[in-house]
Amino acid sequence: MSKDKITSLSNEKRLFKPIAEFAKQASPNSTKALTLLYKKAKKNPVAFWEEQARALFWNQKWKKGLKWNYPHAQWFVGGKINASVNCLDRHLNSANRNKAALIWEAESGEVQTFTYQQLSTEVNKLANVLENLGVQQGQIVTIYMGMVPEAVIAMLACARIGAAHNVVFGGFSSDALRDRMVDSKSVCLITQDGAFRKGHVVPLKEAANHALEACKTVKSCIVLKRTGSAVVMKPGRDYWWSELMSEASSQNQAKAFDSEHPLFILYTSGSTGKPKGILHTTGGYLTQVAYSSKLVFDLKPSDLYFCTADIGWITGHSYVVYGLLCNAATVLMYEGAPMHPGPDRFWELIDKHKVTIFYTAPTAIRSFMREGDSHIQKYQLSSLRLLGSVGEPINPEAWIWYHNVIGKKRCPIVDTWWQTETGSILISPIPGVIATKPGSATKPLPGIFADVVEKSGKSCKTNQGGLLVITHPWPSMLRGVYGDTKRYVETYWSAFPKKLGFYLAGDGARKDKDGYFWIMGRVDDVVNVAGHRIGTAEVESALVSNSKVAEAAVVGKNDPIKGTALVAFVILKTEFLKLKLSPQSLDSLKKELIDWVGREIGPIAKPDEIRFTEALPKTRSGKIMRRLLREVVAEGAIKGDTSTLEDFSALEKLKQTEED
Ligand code: WT7
Repeated sequence: MSKDKITSLSNEKRLFKPIAEFAKQASPNSTKALTLLYKKAKKNPVAFWEEQARALFWNQKWKKGLKWNYPHAQWFVGGKINASVNCLDRHLNSANRNKAALIWEAESGEVQTFTYQQLSTEVNKLANVLENLGVQQGQIVTIYMGMVPEAVIAMLACARIGAAHNVVFGGFSSDALRDRMVDSKSVCLITQDGAFRKGHVVPLKEAANHALEACKTVKSCIVLKRTGSAVVMKPGRDYWWSELMSEASSQNQAKAFDSEHPLFILYTSGSTGKPKGILHTTGGYLTQVAYSSKLVFDLKPSDLYFCTADIGWITGHSYVVYGLLCNAATVLMYEGAPMHPGPDRFWELIDKHKVTIFYTAPTAIRSFMREGDSHIQKYQLSSLRLLGSVGEPINPEAWIWYHNVIGKKRCPIVDTWWQTETGSILISPIPGVIATKPGSATKPLPGIFADVVEKSGKSCKTNQGGLLVITHPWPSMLRGVYGDTKRYVETYWSAFPKKLGFYLAGDGARKDKDGYFWIMGRVDDVVNVAGHRIGTAEVESALVSNSKVAEAAVVGKNDPIKGTALVAFVILKTEFLKLKLSPQSLDSLKKELIDWVGREIGPIAKPDEIRFTEALPKTRSGKIMRRLLREVVAEGAIKGDTSTLEDFSALEKLKQTEED
């Protein structure tokens, strides 16, 4: 077998036809209508996207749909637009004016609602505040906040005055904030005294104060009082949100900006090196997030949409704020942690507010599964009509659980594949039409052209694993890595010859006989075992399908015979942990799991070693940091960068596994 090939071993055969009740009311809801969309898009992709762009309000129409100067795209060239006008003002001349835009629930249970009119008033005021502080269009404002409505207000106020926002996840450390403010040359910071999480106060202003010491470009800092904790304010630089807002006018004349005007940058980590500031611009981004929100979530005016992602991630940008508000949707926003005060917090929120669309991540789904089903049984969850998943491949076991236990077999699941870089969902089922297969994100949306190719760029055969590429530019694609064009070109565009024009997503994938895409995880997480490159996600998925396993992470370890052998870190379900198994029983359980993987996907994928652990090192967004696990395996210690790690105690627990 050639070294370039990626072996796909998963063998999921289940097929779920669109749910009739759902399909009846969905749009589109016939293969015919969807085929027409695909055809139209294929015939003339740019004209197709121009048609989608017309759904927005443009102050001036564009002259050219796409200017493609490989690998630099400009969409809707010459058009003028304002993102905040599209999310707010546009809805104020209709009945939507008094519709809830945001329903926010605090971790404490307090609820606050903002109608479109109310949200618009706050955004206008803050836009004036920013202008009065001297923030100008084209400059960058960092937002370091928790999940509070003011974070959305801050984003939209930046958009209104043409300043690009740089949201830094409120769970990041002071150093991470500093690096992102320095790299982006931010002129202003918007933060809070503290944020509530798991009943504790996260001292955001304190972290900000340390970071600000090293950021000479930041001239002003606006501080929202949320927790009432004592904070140090620097006169002449720091201002209280409430004081500035109480003096600000609620009228702000929005300017129209070029379609390619920067809307935001958002930092994301690569497999190596410092985080990259992914740059997104206005017209193309907005067009595609609006289009995909409607199509993928089958959005209706009466929906109550709940996405559990933090606004610190791209999912929060595209599918809490811009895509939804552009469509005049009602968004439920929750301040706190999913497991606080108990594992049923989301189910309680869904029943209380009557959520219809629920969008979350596989890692969250697996942690709910781990708790057993009893915390769910006391809830109806009858308002739900659609479920979504994003962030990593969803293992079929979790998919089926999500479908049965949360969706009660009534709700389609949209497994949405995309990236910070892609700006919006690119591969996903259309819920009223496309039959789903657990673990597959199904097909590229109309207007998106993707393939799975070999290193040479040649298309892979059916079910042959390869590299996922996007073959035609799309409106919400990243426009660059902030301040580093070289890195942009090298990371995304240099794997294939220019004439192919392929964007390298960095994920391994295969396409099955029906043209369904199966994403196998990052190529960095692909290991070569005895000449077979195996997606560690597939082995993890097999482990998790065992009834005793809650979560698993698999990494490679050097092996003199196989090249690489697999080591699996396994978290057992709480009920098994409670049994306090003897060392002998643990050993036989290890053997049982190794054989299980052998049976599920074949002997080649059998881990050589199983290590039981109570926790896995994860980033704040829930991605397992396999890089750290590889270090534990290779060197017995961790020396690499842990700045994005959420829970340091996970490392201590891992060390204990070696002593077992
Ligand atoms: C990477 C992008 C997109 C918002 C959240 C993550 C993985 C994402 C899926 C999915 C399989 C997925 C990919 C991708 N990923 N969604 N539905 N199935 N893998 O954004 O941090 O930029 O990560 O997440 O590996 O490349 P991100």
